[in-house]
Amino acid sequence: MRTQVGIVGAGPAGLLLSHLLQRAGIESVVLEARTREYVEHRVRAGVLEQGTVDVLTETGVADRLHREGMVHRGLELRFGGRGHRIALSELAGGRAITVYGQQEVVKDLIAARLAAGGELRFEAGAEAIEGLDGDRPVVRLASGEEVRCAVVAGCDGFHGVSRGAVPDEALTVYERVYPFAWLGILARAAPSSEELIYTHHDRGFALHSMRSPEVTRLYLQVAPDEEVEAWPDERIWEELQTRMATADGGFLLNEGEIFEKGIAPMRSFVAEPMRHGRLFLAGDAAHIVPATGAKGLNLAVADVRVLARGLRAFFERGDEQELDAYSERCLRRVWRVQHFSWWMTQMLHRLDVHDPFEARLQRSQLEYVVRSEAAARTLAENYVGLELEDV
Ligand code: APR
Ligand code: PHB
Repeated sequence: MRTQVGIVGAGPAGLLLSHLLQRAGIESVVLEARTREYVEHRVRAGVLEQGTVDVLTETGVADRLHREGMVHRGLELRFGGRGHRIALSELAGGRAITVYGQQEVVKDLIAARLAAGGELRFEAGAEAIEGLDGDRPVVRLASGEEVRCAVVAGCDGFHGVSRGAVPDEALTVYERVYPFAWLGILARAAPSSEELIYTHHDRGFALHSMRSPEVTRLYLQVAPDEEVEAWPDERIWEELQTRMATADGGFLLNEGEIFEKGIAPMRSFVAEPMRHGRLFLAGDAAHIVPATGAKGLNLAVADVRVLARGLRAFFERGDEQELDAYSERCLRRVWRVQHFSWWMTQMLHRLDVHDPFEARLQRSQLEYVVRSEAAARTLAENYVGLELEDV
């Protein structure tokens, strides 16, 4: 098979890149190891930055997002049994977030690719990527097929093959693994508040989010090696109610049938550079953020916006300048978002219980964020997403 851009992975990064390239008249093939069914039903996060909503809207794949997504102009920080609203849009120039499941974005992009006759191959896992130092790299599939292209986009997530195609000596990895994980559930219960609630509690972090007026998404901080079997539904509800209770006793979570339950590790990871010869890494293939800042999907989208612009200049004018700046450009944003996600994680999770000094610092940080407009604005502008140009 021959194409201009071989894209490995049909997550948000790979699918959006293929969509943006097609709009620029650039041919691509998307190779996905799993089935369409699996990719469209894999439950992940669900907060879209303003910039993510804008690029999906500008490129014509946001009709359902605007119909079903929930626009939020604020969020609540809850600690010491009291809630404090952060007025995101007021503090961040009117920009807002939209709550819309990542798998819904994936479904919309797959539908758009197929409707446009895009080359999207499921159950087509890549096994190796070769010839990156030349101008005709090859993606070898597990099936024995090969895809010859001018450029490879490694959008195959943290566990994909793309990053492994970069020689060890050419890659520097930065990593932090947090001593806790998130237990996440989906429940058939109406959301218990209009906006997200990030809760700090001595027993651990808790997050109230949602997917629709009928479905709530909730998370609990648990031990890093926790087994989901250790968390029967009653125990989950009891723990959520305890951590999210308010001192005035006025808040109660709506409970309902839990129909999805999973545990996700918390880590910060960055691989530098994000380019090796004709291979460009984007999204989780290059970086992982802890979910506290709701940035994973949005960072993947930001990467492919920069990459699509560079590939356009390259294929239209043979101009490699933007591609040469791709890695440095994206890493500026990656580290800004890494810092913000680490900061939110440090501020809101139960850290080392044997360090009361740390606990006092954390409390002071929480108090400052809800009392100082300057500190609240910092949180707000990072949370709704900084403009691509501003980082
Ligand atoms: N060949 C082909 N496809 C592969 C291979 C392979 N060898 N290995 C992995 N894949 C596929 C996976 O099945 C997955 O569908 O690559 C895709 C990568 O998608 P994501 O993991 O969603 O990564 P990305 O597109 O970068 O999106 C990042 O996803 O994990 C969330 O929190 C993360 O929100 C962030 C977003
Ligand atoms: C979600 O809705 O899944 C969600 C929201 C906010 C986060 C993480 C996940 O920080």
